[in-house]
Amino acid sequence: MAKIIDGKAISSEIKQEVKEETEQLQKNGIFPCLAVVLVGENSASKVYVNNKKKACEACGIASLSYELPETTTEAELLELIQKLNVDKKINGILVQLPLPKHIDETKVILAISPEKDVDCFHPQNVGALHTGGKGFLPCTPAGILELIKRSGYDITGKECVVIGRSNIVGKPVSMLLLKENGTVTICHSKTKNLPEVCKRADIIVVATGKINTLTKDMVKESAIVIDVGMNRNEEGKLCGDVDFENVKQKAEAITPVPGGVGPMTIAMLMKNCLTAAKNQA
Ligand code: GUN
Repeated sequence: MAKIIDGKAISSEIKQEVKEETEQLQKNGIFPCLAVVLVGENSASKVYVNNKKKACEACGIASLSYELPETTTEAELLELIQKLNVDKKINGILVQLPLPKHIDETKVILAISPEKDVDCFHPQNVGALHTGGKGFLPCTPAGILELIKRSGYDITGKECVVIGRSNIVGKPVSMLLLKENGTVTICHSKTKNLPEVCKRADIIVVATGKINTLTKDMVKESAIVIDVGMNRNEEGKLCGDVDFENVKQKAEAITPVPGGVGPMTIAMLMKNCLTAAKNQA
């Protein structure tokens, strides 16, 4: 039976560390502050944004909320970002995605000052991640690494298989695993013989957005399985991309959904806010 990696506990630990460091900064007159921008009525986004604001409060980080109507134009949003970019009180800017269809997400991401890009979506920060330069770490991928490391597993020399090649998870987590000296294979919907590739893996990160992407027959007994998925099954129950009930019977360790990767994204966002405040001080 696999060890269940408790993302809630590990994220609490990190938020506690952030809180303590924030208190130290405040004693030195530095008050970390995050601007959170939400456009439109996406109900999942509203939940995420609320959770981010709550985490700020728990960590002693100030948050300023900008909730804009669905009818907001691209020009209006870009103007707000420009204002936040030059506001010295604000250290981090988070624009919750997805944006309404009439707004070009790429343009919006490019408009955010790289120094305040706590999501690590700006090409300057993405580039730094790939070249080993200085920049923010992307939240979900960095959270995945913390889950692995704080559970006592070393990545050096390990066969790491990432399923999914998104800009938010698949590609950046592959780069972080490589930085930690893993031997990384990136799989996707066109990969031939996925089960054979997965069976080699010491560490598997699954981020496809598809239920049951990874099943018991695809993992070896010593595998560490990280499930980034967030789906609803036929009964409306929250579930990941991994067949959790069966894979946990075989693997060495596994993250649950909910309570695995999810809470880590926000914890790492808090860490990035702190980094932003320190860099700007
Ligand atoms: N939408 C889904 N995940 C994220 C995230 O990590 N950051 C932002 N800004 N939007 C998202």
